[in-house]
Amino acid sequence: MRTTRLLRPDPDGIVAAAALLRSGGLVAFPTETVYGLGGDASNPDAVAAIYAAKGRPAHNPLIAHVVDAHAAARIARFDPRAAAVADTFWPGALTLVLPVRDARLLAPAMVPKGAGTVAVRVPAHPVARALLAAFGGPVAAPSANISGRVSPTTALHVRDELGGRIDAILDAGPCDVGVESTILSLTGPRAVLLRPGGVSQSALSEVLGIPIVQTQETDVLTAPGQLASHYAPSSPVRLDARSRGANELWLGFGAACEGADMSLSASGDLGEAASNLFAALRLLDQRANGRRIAVAPIPERGIGIAINDRLRRAAAPRSGD
Ligand code: TXA
Ligand code: MG
Repeated sequence: MRTTRLLRPDPDGIVAAAALLRSGGLVAFPTETVYGLGGDASNPDAVAAIYAAKGRPAHNPLIAHVVDAHAAARIARFDPRAAAVADTFWPGALTLVLPVRDARLLAPAMVPKGAGTVAVRVPAHPVARALLAAFGGPVAAPSANISGRVSPTTALHVRDELGGRIDAILDAGPCDVGVESTILSLTGPRAVLLRPGGVSQSALSEVLGIPIVQTQETDVLTAPGQLASHYAPSSPVRLDARSRGANELWLGFGAACEGADMSLSASGDLGEAASNLFAALRLLDQRANGRRIAVAPIPERGIGIAINDRLRRAAAPRSGD
């Protein structure tokens, strides 16, 4: 059992967090998407400790977070397509899967066996940037939740799940975007969307000038097309719920959901809904007491695509995690 310190996101807190990372410790920190669980990406013990703290399957690789595109170019190879999207969307809610340039800068687990690729992201959150600058190297950071569960968008979410398993949490309040980064793979001739997220597919294909092929985040890891349970609360979830059924709590969206137990956005704003999504699922889960969570239909456009992706996984059959 570790003592988990709550650190303020001021210069002292950043210095303390960077020192913990240098000594192989685990520090959760805010990004504009969700809180990440950070460890030194070049230190195999720190990376192993991330997997242990989350109970994450060893075959699911981590994202390397770096301070800017120059730092990213030390670990990954950028072709002109990758350079163009990085230039437009970094810092921001975009992760690029690229061929690895120098695997010696990373713990072996950061580079999936046989793939020769690495996932890199330059986050925009000022506290994440300050931490990355103070640390000075790539930081491995999955979402700071127990594997398979809902991602955290506040420091308290992190403490509830990982308190006692990690060294510190930098608390900078709730995350803006609320769903994880978009993951785009540019390792071959095609541009492949591995996960919809904070940056929309249409914005990406506009910059790339080519259509983007869609695949499931899980394809890399399991059978194609399988919708693995992930991002899941403990309670069962029903989608496209236009009203509350028996034994259900109803999570609304927009004006048509009067009487809902909670709303993702009463005005029907998709950005607000994304930012509220994971906190709402956690709260309803705590109140559910055996009831199901029924979620109103969410329009399949813009960041609504990422919201629906997470909701479908939250509702997918559980494999017994
Ligand atoms: O917004 C985010 O991306 C957050 C914040 C903390 O940055 N992080 C996050 O990490 O969501 P995580 O570990 O929960 O999701 C990372 C995803 C996983 O689905 C993993 O399979 C995929 O990235 N991934 C990582 N490396 C990969 C690689 N080399 N090839 C394909 N997929 C990869
Ligand atoms: Mg995650």
